[in-house]
This record gives sequence, C-alpha cells and structure tokens, in this order.
Amino acid sequence: QRFIKSISFALCAGAIAVGSSVAQANTFRIAVGDGAGGTQHELGLKFSEVFKEKTAGKHDTKMFLNGQLGDEQATINDASMGLLDFSILAINNVTPFSPSVGVLTLPYMVHSLDDAVTLTQGEVGQQLVENTIRDAGVRIIGWAYSGFRVLTNSKQAVSSLADLEGLKIRVPNNEIMIDTYRAWGINPTPMAWSETFTGLQLGVVDGQDNPYITVSAMKFDEVQKYITNIRYLFSIEPLIVSESVFQSQPADVQKAILEAGQAATDHSAQWLVEQEDKIKAELTANGMEISEPADGEKQWMQKAIDQVWPKYYKQLGGKDNLNKILTSLGRDTI
Ligand code: MLT
Repeated sequence: QRFIKSISFALCAGAIAVGSSVAQANTFRIAVGDGAGGTQHELGLKFSEVFKEKTAGKHDTKMFLNGQLGDEQATINDASMGLLDFSILAINNVTPFSPSVGVLTLPYMVHSLDDAVTLTQGEVGQQLVENTIRDAGVRIIGWAYSGFRVLTNSKQAVSSLADLEGLKIRVPNNEIMIDTYRAWGINPTPMAWSETFTGLQLGVVDGQDNPYITVSAMKFDEVQKYITNIRYLFSIEPLIVSESVFQSQPADVQKAILEAGQAATDHSAQWLVEQEDKIKAELTANGMEISEPADGEKQWMQKAIDQVWPKYYKQLGGKDNLNKILTSLGRDTI
C-alpha cells in the first residue's frame, strides 16, 4: 500500500507533466469488472449519459467491460498512478488499498438497501471518500448497489454450515471475507475476480459468492447449479476516478464528474429494486436451485460476528466507531 502511494505520487506528477493529453482528454476510459447487464454496467451507462450531457458533448467516456483493462484490484493501481481514468469495481476489492473501507465488507453490517444508502451517502461515506483519496490516490464519485451476495456452487445444495464442508469456495483477496468463511469452518480460496469464471468452469473452485445480478451478468449460471440465499454482505460497488486525473481537470469538468456520479448513484438504487426479482427468476428458469440458510441464518451470523468483528475493531476505527455507525443505522450497539 505504501509502495503504491509513493509510486502513485511520483507518477502522478509525471502524468500531469507529460499529460496535457490526460488533462484535455475528450474520451475518458472506464474499466468495469463485471459483464454487460450488471449494476456496474448500469452505473457506468448513467454516469456516461449525464457526464456527456453536462459537458455539452465536449467530453465522453468509453467503458471496457469484463475486466478488459485488468483485474479490479489492478485497476486501483492504474488509476492511482494516473494511467487509468475511471474504474467501477466492488468495494471488497478497494479494501486492501484503504483498510477503513472494510466497514462496508464487515459481515452482517448492512441489513438492507436503506442501510447501504445511509452508509455510503452519509457521514461514513464521506469519510471513506477522503480516506480512499489519502490511501489509494483514487476518489469515489458514485456508488452502485448490487444487493446481497448469495453463495453459489456446482456440487450440492447448501443450507447449514456443515454443508459447506469439502467445498472449495472462491473469495476475493479480502481478509475480512476470508476470515468470515474461516469462522464458518472452511478455508476459502482467494482468487482475482477476472479469473473466477474460468476457475469455476475448470473446477479449480466449486463456488463463490456475489449478488444475483452479478451472477447473471457474469453468466455463472452456465457453470453453477446451487444458490444459498445468505445475506452476510450487501454488495456495494464504487465508481472511482483517478485523483490525479480529477485534479488535472478544470473546475467545470470536475463539477460535471461529481454531479454525474451522484445522478448515477441515485439511478443505481432504483434500478436494483426494479431488476433483482426479475433476474433471480431468470436464474431459476435457467436451472439454478435456491436454498434458504438453515435456522434463518442465525448460526452463520453469530459465528461471523463473534469471530470476525473483534479482529477488525482497530482497523475500522475502534469499537466505539462501529457502535456509532450501528446507532446511525438504528441498531443495537455491540
Ligand atoms: C468480487 O467478488 O471480487 C467482486 O465483488 C466482483 C464484482 O466486482 O462484482
């Protein structure tokens, strides 16, 4: 992280020096981790439409779907160095670069879309934006809301924690998520997002977790059969801009970027509500089978909260800070 920061600042200066081409670019590149039809794509479409409108067609964007510009975590490095303009990626892939962002991947922290909106667009979100600029050299300017991550696998219906035994589950390279599966009794396999479809297809791993909409956008129904409707993480996916690229823009373009980001965020919440049930039905029509977690997920939740949360108090600003956040969501403190 420190390495990224130092080269990022060195290279930023370079990018600005060589790069009046960056500052005057008419077409900005947006890396997108997921495939077409997902929440990331939808956020990018809305952002691009509003940004173009607000700059009276002077500026445009081009999206590169399915990780064409590199794995999600690699796009943070590139944006940090001013080599990439924008990226849309899952928040869990930002956490390794800016640890306080982990509050959004703490299991069972977010209980609903409303919680996700409150956290990202309120005081907590503002602080995370500032921390991410400081730690990773990228600015979050929009948020996509993708729904709860559900567990998929190719082997067997999973309902209880005991059913997980023997399954090889892919997780992102995110310590909190790795620890969550450990609390559930298995050792998951960290794997880059861009390698996950092939990993599932070749049986390197048996399963993974991501929202219904992402499962569909990534065509995981072609290589996965079973879904468990767990609700441990609500997937939140930021749109980031390289801070050096942002700072090299004139004020009116910066304003257009921020306003288009907000418009895309508003659109994303509404789009999720309209799409999620429809996509879930499509996945079952395509042959996927959905199970509910045993005992209403109580055991899953208890193990994750008891074993994972205390390990991350320090990284997430202390227990008091988490209690403040829980209170802001109208929940009991810990
Ligand atoms: C991941 O599992 O790495 C991400 O959440 C995938 C995504 O960006 O949708």
